Amino acid sequence: VAPLGQGPGLVFIGFMGAGKSRALRATRDAGLDAVDADLELEQELGAPIAEFFERHGEPEFRRREEALTLRILDEGHEAVAVGGGAVLSEPVREALAARVCVWLKPPLDELWRRAEGSRRPLARDRASFERLYAEREQTYRELADAVLLSADVARAALESLRALEPTGPVRLLWAESASGAYPVWAGKEALERSPWPAGGRRFCVTDAAVGALYRDAVEPLAGLVAVEPGEQAKSLSEAERVLRELARAGMTRSDHVVALGGGVVGDLAGFCAATYQRGVPVVQVPTTLLAQVDSAYGGKTGVDLPEAKNYVGAIHLPAGVIADTATLDTLPSEEVAAGFVELLKTALIAGAGTWEQVRALGGLEPDRLADAIFDCAVAKVEVVAADERDSGRRQVLNLGHTVGHAIEAASGYDRYRHGEAVGLGLLAALRLSGAGDLRSEVQHLLVERGLPVHLDRSISLDDVLAAVERDKKRTPRGIGFVLLPRPGEPVIDQPVDPASLRAAVEELL
Ligand SMILES: NC(=O)c1ccc[n+]([C@@H]2O[C@H](COP(=O)([O-])OP(=O)(O)OC[C@H]3O[C@@H](n4cnc5c(N)ncnc54)[C@H](O)[C@@H]3O)[C@@H](O)[C@H]2O)c1
Repeated sequence: VAPLGQGPGLVFIGFMGAGKSRALRATRDAGLDAVDADLELEQELGAPIAEFFERHGEPEFRRREEALTLRILDEGHEAVAVGGGAVLSEPVREALAARVCVWLKPPLDELWRRAEGSRRPLARDRASFERLYAEREQTYRELADAVLLSADVARAALESLRALEPTGPVRLLWAESASGAYPVWAGKEALERSPWPAGGRRFCVTDAAVGALYRDAVEPLAGLVAVEPGEQAKSLSEAERVLRELARAGMTRSDHVVALGGGVVGDLAGFCAATYQRGVPVVQVPTTLLAQVDSAYGGKTGVDLPEAKNYVGAIHLPAGVIADTATLDTLPSEEVAAGFVELLKTALIAGAGTWEQVRALGGLEPDRLADAIFDCAVAKVEVVAADERDSGRRQVLNLGHTVGHAIEAASGYDRYRHGEAVGLGLLAALRLSGAGDLRSEVQHLLVERGLPVHLDRSISLDDVLAAVERDKKRTPRGIGFVLLPRPGEPVIDQPVDPASLRAAVEELL
């Protein structure tokens, strides 16, 4: 970690009301030389920004803003906050390439709440505010070396932000939700380049295949427990074996678990960390595409029962996540394809630039995937931030999973990979959403990656429908489906009539 006072300057970027000035104050409180470009600009213009804007118009304002922003960036301060629209200027964007850009990205509702009724010239009504946000979002996304969901974590993240390289291969995301906040380091060689996010000794839980490939990358280890690769490892008996091995190895509450592997290891090791001595920290080191876009974040951990999947578990946020995309080099292509489905699911839920990026992805080589993985990690932690305990918004992440899980259960968990089953579930969910064109596009994206779009004939329609009935998301009112009429617009808790459900699953046969 670069000690404070070294490293390239930090620049806070983001939409109006994102908390850039507040984040800047946190860096100043920590002793950094910090400059707020908006305040300097008001001084130079000799009038509040809103007033100057009205009197001289936007082009003149942008001209003055650009000149001043370039000058401030050139002065080499340790931290700078720039105006929300300053990044529209190409010379400013070029200057930002040599700085660590930190995108403050609170939810849009929160941005509007702060801007509404203010004197900000571009916040007159919600519809044009949202349009402007949509126009700018992609620019912030492209510039960001780090994403913070709020200025509240700026102080805690400061040391990590200063360890980043501008436009480097590794980016930082600071996840926040009800029970805590944690850093996510994502990108090529993140394991070598990132500071380790937990103290104490490391006890690694992995599967035998991943351990053989990557245990050296998470050294020094005080202990290692390996399970057999595959979903069968997510059982209470394997959890007991892991817990007993950790106890025999002398792990204490000041140590932590390292979950090195795919979603199976992440869920099992996370569950063991949640329960070992009533809870020790876990660092998630996801090595599959599925785990890097989805399962490593948000703290859902658990094991399966013979009766049903993920029936025993706990919410246990990680102490940190290191998603090294270089580990995907060794991942078998069918596993990459299965992980692509979770990427697709997250992008469909997030909509906008994330969806555009994933639909235009082309091949699934790790270097090509790195940006999409980071975007999906951001999208997932945003959903979890709004609803960590899965009582509302978080349910959007189950898009495609109701039918997907039922297909896994009806086929004995060994015919399809989880991602493959979710791909089929997505097709059913989009049919139920009345989104026929989107369904066709998603089907095409699945076919292109060699993923199944039809159910194997050996699987019975009635078994799938019966498994849907046993869905653990069932409430006394019935099963609420997640539907998606358009990308970016998921709706939860939707009733579906049995005939439509039968038809949507039958279509897969
Ligand atoms: N907790 C959550 O929020 C969440 C979300 C989605 C899925 N899940 C769970 O994730 C599990 C599926 O995870 P998965 O698809 O990652 O499967 P997995 O963990 O079984 O990994 C798939 C296979 O890839 C191998 N492998 C992993 N990384 C490798 C690498 N870098 N190189 C070579 N081989 C490698 C593993 O040994 C295994 O054989 C399911 O149990 C599902 O329920 C959890």
